[in-house]
Amino acid sequence: MTEQEEKKKKNYKPVETRLFGRRKGRPLRIRKTRLMQELLPQLTITLDADKNAKYPNWPTELFPHKPQSVWLEVGFGGGEHLAGQAALNPAVGVIGCEPFINGVASLLEHVEDTRLNNVRIYPDDARVLIDALPDACLSRCFVLFADPWPKARHAERRFIRPDNIARLARVIKPGGELRLASDAAGLVTWMREQMAQASDLFTCLHDSATPPADWVPTRYEQKGIAAGRVPYYLLFVRK
Ligand SMILES: C[S@@+](CC[C@H](N)C(=O)[O-])C[C@H]1O[C@@H](n2cnc3c(N)ncnc32)[C@H](O)[C@@H]1O
Repeated sequence: MTEQEEKKKKNYKPVETRLFGRRKGRPLRIRKTRLMQELLPQLTITLDADKNAKYPNWPTELFPHKPQSVWLEVGFGGGEHLAGQAALNPAVGVIGCEPFINGVASLLEHVEDTRLNNVRIYPDDARVLIDALPDACLSRCFVLFADPWPKARHAERRFIRPDNIARLARVIKPGGELRLASDAAGLVTWMREQMAQASDLFTCLHDSATPPADWVPTRYEQKGIAAGRVPYYLLFVRK
């Protein structure tokens, strides 16, 4: 085996646990660097099994205002949607997961600008956080404009697939919502098919090019619309 093959074998992770996509973009400017150093540690969720076990109401306990409901956004990108929802719903605790640090820094700007105190961040792979959550603890979960991975050979990289649907089903309360959206026609069809296979877990309430009434725009949604693509909005309820 060559040195390169050896290295590849050592770093091998099954696709179910690998994270695809960037973690870093351009170097952060002064304000974002400060926010990453000062504000992120205050908002970061650290996963510590012992510590979490001491808080029976985790993740509600993460928020000083002890919200009645906790929402989760997987892959919040620049955080526009997450910050918008948190501002519109101050009684809710909103958790965001995003491994791309430039996106995390951008969310921190929104949090500081609008003085949000109901946001917590897991700056990494959402699957790790979801697996650490107790059963039926979330009232709403968003997976919006996820990476489409259009090539058929990359289909298993798409976030909405059976293992992640089962993960989400475990943590979303009965009656809780799962909101999906995309402007990539192939991904929309794929998500419909994947969710149809999970019809024992979720019921579809909305599948339309018109967003739900309380919709907050996302950056990728706006980019897609500007480029002439048509977003679809899918809303499911946990049975
Ligand atoms: C195409 S962007 C969309 C961002 C945002 N939702 C929007 O609509 O503007 C998809 C985002 O999902 C993030 N992502 C991909 N896999 C993820 C995972 N396993 N956990 C959390 N975020 C993930 C990526 O880093 C990327 O920022």
